[in-house]
Amino acid sequence: MQKIVLAFSGSLRTESFSTKLVRAFGELAPEEIDFRIADISKLPIYNQDDELPEPNFLLELKAQLKPAHAVLLVTPEYNRSIPPVLKNALDWVSRPQVPPGAGPWAGKATAVAGVSPYSLGGVSAVFHLRQVLTFLNMPVMQQPEFYLTFAGEKFDKRGKLIDQNTKEHIGKFWTAFVPFIEREDQSTKVKRLIQYTSTES
Ligand SMILES: Cc1cc2nc3c(=O)[nH]c(=O)nc-3n(C[C@H](O)[C@H](O)[C@H](O)COP(=O)(O)O)c2cc1C
Repeated sequence: MQKIVLAFSGSLRTESFSTKLVRAFGELAPEEIDFRIADISKLPIYNQDDELPEPNFLLELKAQLKPAHAVLLVTPEYNRSIPPVLKNALDWVSRPQVPPGAGPWAGKATAVAGVSPYSLGGVSAVFHLRQVLTFLNMPVMQQPEFYLTFAGEKFDKRGKLIDQNTKEHIGKFWTAFVPFIEREDQSTKVKRLIQYTSTES
């Protein structure tokens, strides 16, 4: 059975390098992956007054996330941190409040990639993002790390990835991420079974 990976770009910009990289991950995904891209462009800025009853856009996003075995977050860096659009999506889906670590994000095998037109590849944003994912209880693949540096040189005019090194790195990424997804999926199932049997007894 194919594993569903739901990918998020942390930028809404039409010519976003992050979105182009998301598409490249999709184009180079192996056949055991059903690669989907989430649309977070319609999410308003989070406001706690609006979380109940759950608005339709939130229910739709949660419905997209639910069957996903894994999540890929591709983030640009804003002032050495995560752009608000990505944090906003993480925050919305984490609400309404549930016990820590038990929300819709919990247990999803996760990979993160940083993007920048400069030399550091969004590394600070990735580390801030990892901190948030810890609280959301998302198991994050540690290696290989993924930082796309000098992003402006890596795509053609139509937004296609043309850089051979990056293509190879995406290949290595999938070689590691597919078994990681399988392991985490198995361990989430076992955890659910333990939870289920312990509430039964
Ligand atoms: C508010 C803001 C802050 C930024 N801060 C950083 C930064 O800390 N580090 C960095 O490498 N680039 C920074 N940049 C430049 C972005 O990396 C660049 O705009 C990039 O193209 C954004 O990603 P995107 O192409 O996916 O939209 C910043 C851009 C904006 C708009």
